[in-house]
Amino acid sequence: MTSTRKLNPYQGKLAVLDSGQEDSLKPGQLAEKLSAPLYHSVDKNTQEAFFLIWREGALRLIDRELLTKGGLAVEVEPRKGEQRSWPAPKQGALAQAIGRKTTVVVDATTGWGQDSLALFRMGFQMHCIERSPVMAALLADGFGRLAALEWMHKLQLKPPCLMVGDAIEELHKLTFCPDCVFLDPMFPPKRKKSALAKKSMEILRDLLGEDTDKQSLFAAARQVAGHRVVVKSPTHAEPLGGKPDLSHQSKLLRYDVYFR
Ligand SMILES: C[S@@+](CC[C@H](N)C(=O)[O-])C[C@H]1O[C@@H](n2cnc3c(N)ncnc32)[C@H](O)[C@@H]1O
Repeated sequence: MTSTRKLNPYQGKLAVLDSGQEDSLKPGQLAEKLSAPLYHSVDKNTQEAFFLIWREGALRLIDRELLTKGGLAVEVEPRKGEQRSWPAPKQGALAQAIGRKTTVVVDATTGWGQDSLALFRMGFQMHCIERSPVMAALLADGFGRLAALEWMHKLQLKPPCLMVGDAIEELHKLTFCPDCVFLDPMFPPKRKKSALAKKSMEILRDLLGEDTDKQSLFAAARQVAGHRVVVKSPTHAEPLGGKPDLSHQSKLLRYDVYFR
């Protein structure tokens, strides 16, 4: 086992694993960038719980449970059942909340990029902000894979642009006025371990913890959004900005809309 000597900001939580499958310098460079240790294998003495690894052409985040399985990457292909033509119809609670007249959207809490990518496939112009350098690395890899897809080339589309930093500050640096700012921060779960929570969200919560500065983020979003702020939250959570102007609810989720 080898490791870099720099201090790991993830406090012994995360390391980069060199699988040997990636013949470039990528794993070393990523470890350096994240100030995380670089390992060639994991054994019972390894203290970190999370690992970044290139497997099957994608950068993946794994925990010990996923070590021998695939791992989680930013999924760039349309979801099962989603129309594959571009732009896909603006259907469902998310699209309704974003609004038919909206063109430019800033996703200030991009995470795994699944909301951003669904909106991108519906033809919205997406600008993505993510403050976790780990998630930003996964997103950069995903957006790179998206850019290389045949349909993207055919339609001469560029992937969403990615800004790395805290949206509370980044939103004020925008050089354009977005029609809509979309927020999906992490709320505390109803139960400790929800059987319904997706593995991708569970792993995110375990790695990053709850987003405790949601109110400041909402305030920043309200200041810069041209037409509306949309907040995605679990149904049990209190609305982030008080009573919303509109709310689109599904079984487990709510999209609260605040007009300017
Ligand atoms: C629940 S996840 C978002 C999931 C995302 N909607 C998806 O479809 O995958 C929340 C993400 O927002 C990020 N985040 C929270 N507050 C942020 C802020 N102020 N600036 C930038 N990113 C933030 C967290 O790092 C985390 O990756």
